[in-house]
Amino acid sequence: MFSALRKYLLIPRLIRLSSAAPKDPRTAWDQFWGNIRSTGATGDVLWDSGSDHELNGYLPKLAHLDPALPVVDVGCGNGSFTRLLAQHFPHALGLDYSANAVDRARQEAADITTASFAVCDMTAPDAAQTVATALQESGWTGDANVFIRGVLHVLDRDGRSALAANLLPVVGTRGSVFLAETNFPGTPVDYVSHLGATRKSIPGPLEWAIRGLPMPGRFGAKQRAKAFPTADWNLVEEGSASIETRPLSNPSAPDVIPGYYALLRARQPS
Ligand SMILES: C[S@@+](CC[C@H](N)C(=O)[O-])C[C@H]1O[C@@H](n2cnc3c(N)ncnc32)[C@H](O)[C@@H]1O
Repeated sequence: MFSALRKYLLIPRLIRLSSAAPKDPRTAWDQFWGNIRSTGATGDVLWDSGSDHELNGYLPKLAHLDPALPVVDVGCGNGSFTRLLAQHFPHALGLDYSANAVDRARQEAADITTASFAVCDMTAPDAAQTVATALQESGWTGDANVFIRGVLHVLDRDGRSALAANLLPVVGTRGSVFLAETNFPGTPVDYVSHLGATRKSIPGPLEWAIRGLPMPGRFGAKQRAKAFPTADWNLVEEGSASIETRPLSNPSAPDVIPGYYALLRARQPS
């Protein structure tokens, strides 16, 4: 009984660490990306495993996307998935509202001619126009596929709905949305304990995130149904996913956060 409760002794430390994070989420994300020293399997970024293993698990589902269309990686961060997606689609456009993330993603993809990046707040009213302009600059017009990983669970309910609505003109009639999000079922204390935090120590990349960023929520079928209403979207497929982190507990294997995936298409007028 006492050992089950011991994790709650972490709370004062979590409050102390997170109290310095900027209150405005965009400022927090931009500061976070500006402070990152390295990425990948030994880097500072909690959700960057440095491996293609998670994306490879999604490939059978991504096979339902039109392979002739470009893919837009919404909330791309340092672009680790954008770079992988560029191997499977004719072009991959990574978008993030943090200019520091986009700078970093551009540097990390410098040798990939079919990847490009732009700054874009995907919840903003002009987001679809920004996407169209960025695609055009890379020689693409018309419908696109959309890939989202680990973004909706950091947005509030209004942000999730605004982002989803902005995707309708991006996917048009031919594109699809594939999303994969963390859907951890417990409290923030359970979440950080799951990733190895104890009262005595917290894995470096997890501490980095706790210090700099708002505490994430979860995104599963319930949140998807609200953000992607059936009046606008057809749900093609959904299920559980495993979101891989940078190795924390074992240097040679990623840790895993329980997640959720969905494949959606815009509903067409009948
Ligand atoms: C947890 S990271 C995931 C990064 C990347 N998708 C990955 O899986 O490696 C979330 C990213 O979403 C970005 N983000 C959050 N809200 C956004 C918004 N409204 N528009 C664009 N990007 C956003 C953040 O800046 C951050 O880079």
